[in-house]
Amino acid sequence: MAAVLKRSRGLGCVLLVLSVFTLGYCTTSFRRQLTVVLNPGSSSSPPHGGDLLHVRAVGNNDTLHFLFCSLGAPTLLLVHTNTSSSTVKMNWTQFLDGNHSGGLKVEPESSILYSTAIVFSRLLEYDDSNDTADPTSDLFPPYRLDNFTWSRLNLSETSALLCGAADSFTNGSLCLQLSVFAEEGRDQAWPRLLHTANSSQLGVWLDGVLPRAARSRFLLELQAVGGAHPLSRVEVYRSIDDEFTPSIFQVSRWVPSENSSSDVLGFLQWKPVAYRQPHPALEDATPCRHSEPQPQSGEATAATSRLIRAFYTEPETFGLNVSFGLAGDPFYNSTKFLSWTVLLGSGSPPVDSFSPLVLSMMAVGLGTPMILLLLGGVCVCVRKRAAAMAAAYEPIN
Ligand SMILES: *[C@@H]1O[C@H](CO)[C@@H](O)[C@H](O)[C@H]1NC(C)=O
Ligand SMILES: *[C@@H]1O[C@H](CO)[C@@H](O)[C@H](O)[C@H]1NC(C)=O
Ligand SMILES: *[C@@H]1O[C@H](CO)[C@@H](O)[C@H](O)[C@H]1NC(C)=O
Ligand SMILES: *[C@@H]1O[C@H](CO)[C@@H](O)[C@H](O)[C@H]1NC(C)=O
Ligand SMILES: *[C@@H]1O[C@H](CO)[C@@H](O)[C@H](O)[C@H]1NC(C)=O
Ligand SMILES: *[C@@H]1O[C@H](CO)[C@@H](O)[C@H](O)[C@H]1NC(C)=O
Ligand SMILES: *[C@@H]1O[C@H](CO)[C@@H](O)[C@H](O)[C@H]1NC(C)=O
Ligand SMILES: *[C@@H]1O[C@H](CO)[C@@H](O)[C@H](O)[C@H]1NC(C)=O
Ligand SMILES: *[C@@H]1O[C@H](CO)[C@@H](O)[C@H](O)[C@H]1NC(C)=O
Ligand SMILES: *[C@@H]1O[C@H](CO)[C@@H](O)[C@H](O)[C@H]1NC(C)=O
Ligand SMILES: *[C@@H]1O[C@H](CO)[C@@H](O)[C@H](O)[C@H]1NC(C)=O
Ligand SMILES: *[C@@H]1O[C@H](CO)[C@@H](O)[C@H](O)[C@H]1NC(C)=O
Repeated sequence: MAAVLKRSRGLGCVLLVLSVFTLGYCTTSFRRQLTVVLNPGSSSSPPHGGDLLHVRAVGNNDTLHFLFCSLGAPTLLLVHTNTSSSTVKMNWTQFLDGNHSGGLKVEPESSILYSTAIVFSRLLEYDDSNDTADPTSDLFPPYRLDNFTWSRLNLSETSALLCGAADSFTNGSLCLQLSVFAEEGRDQAWPRLLHTANSSQLGVWLDGVLPRAARSRFLLELQAVGGAHPLSRVEVYRSIDDEFTPSIFQVSRWVPSENSSSDVLGFLQWKPVAYRQPHPALEDATPCRHSEPQPQSGEATAATSRLIRAFYTEPETFGLNVSFGLAGDPFYNSTKFLSWTVLLGSGSPPVDSFSPLVLSMMAVGLGTPMILLLLGGVCVCVRKRAAAMAAAYEPIN
């Protein structure tokens, strides 16, 4: 009995020790050196019609280049090289021409391990008059994001804000905020995605847009562009831990096809939730769904994005739609706000592990009932023995 009791306490201890280790591990994570340049090498500053942001994230023996561009449809390009000295070379004449590739190069070209880009191509709106949340019926003409009027990039420490609008938005806007990270961490705002130094985060929100129907819902169309290994399938993982994103138990991951390589080369990851308020409470969460990625015309995508045109000679493209809200959820009109967050990164996507808090709670949660059970067992044993002894005395009486 005592031995078993000891073992169950031992389990609690192991879990506590584990959680302390996790804490220690988190504070000594891998770091990258970040350098941020707006419109690198541009002689006419700023270039007409939009901006290009270059973030160089240098690791021990590699570099990640994040390029965020508002010339055409907003695009984020990630290039992973195997040296810490690779650079971005621009030819602005060619870049702004926008009719052939080569305007942007990452050099030396032989150091490029992997590249992937995400293009925010269209915003779609449909009239969900029957509240079925069926995004294929009663569509309004789509908004093409390469047709928007975009603001200049507003830079703060390690994030960049881009807002734009179609004419009919009146006072509303669609904004994208890019954040890059020197090390592992977690945003303060829901969905509190876990990021690493190998990933960047894009928040997208639709604020104050005048919907074309009282019961409008929205969809966002994304194009994933790659050279050799485009993101081509979405995997959905279940997680039992919702500590950081209350009530959401899933993670969606858009990755290259399985046999392109045994290791994941890059990913776009998100939690299937959007929020209807800038500072949301739990009831402001609204589920989102994605359609299956479909092969698209790379040429058409390149035509909408200056960055894609400049970097890729033969872009391979897959597209999908993310739709916000299920049947029965409030319509866009209820708050006139919708925000969604994704992570674009190289290598394996960050995976939420149980946090020290949850681990210690588990240790207590598992340990306490076990101790109670064992104590109960001891009590029953003692009583049985007493009863047996009493019974043994009876015949003598
Ligand atoms: C970086 O590369 C050098 C030379 O190839 C090697 O000696 C070193 O161990 C590498 N460092 C890391 C952290 O991989
Ligand atoms: C940039 O591209 C243009 C057009 O292709 C070319 O004429 C020019 O020489 C290039 N500039 C540099 C610095 O390579
Ligand atoms: C690309 O643009 C340049 C300058 O605007 C033009 O001279 C050239 O013919 C164009 N090429 C193609 C293939 O459209
Ligand atoms: C980087 O990759 C290229 C092409 O794969 C290779 O030729 C080169 O040796 C690599 N460099 C390093 C430092 O690993
Ligand atoms: C909504 O429901 C009505 C009546 O059931 C039907 O006639 C109409 O086609 C439906 N509209 C849509 C967009 O499904
Ligand atoms: C895109 O913009 C062009 C002119 O800039 C306009 O003619 C066209 O109607 C717009 N298309 C959409 C779908 O907004
Ligand atoms: C840039 O962003 C900051 C905070 O994010 C905001 O206070 C400021 O007004 C913005 N500037 C412009 C020109 O939009
Ligand atoms: C847009 O903003 C202006 C000034 O802030 C305001 O007067 C106008 O009523 C707003 N329009 C709409 C449709 O909200
Ligand atoms: C980030 O990338 C570096 C270099 O490829 C690698 O050593 C490190 O393990 C990666 N970190 C994570 C959390 O994936
Ligand atoms: C929803 O939009 C309609 C017009 O499109 C407007 O009359 C109505 O007041 C809006 N409802 C809310 C709750 O804002
Ligand atoms: C994956 O493997 C199948 C057969 O094993 C092959 O037909 C297909 O072309 C491969 N796809 C890629 C992207 O390598
Ligand atoms: C997104 O949805 C619209 C409307 O249903 C459809 O026309 C378009 O092809 C979809 N895009 C993708 C990439 O599936």
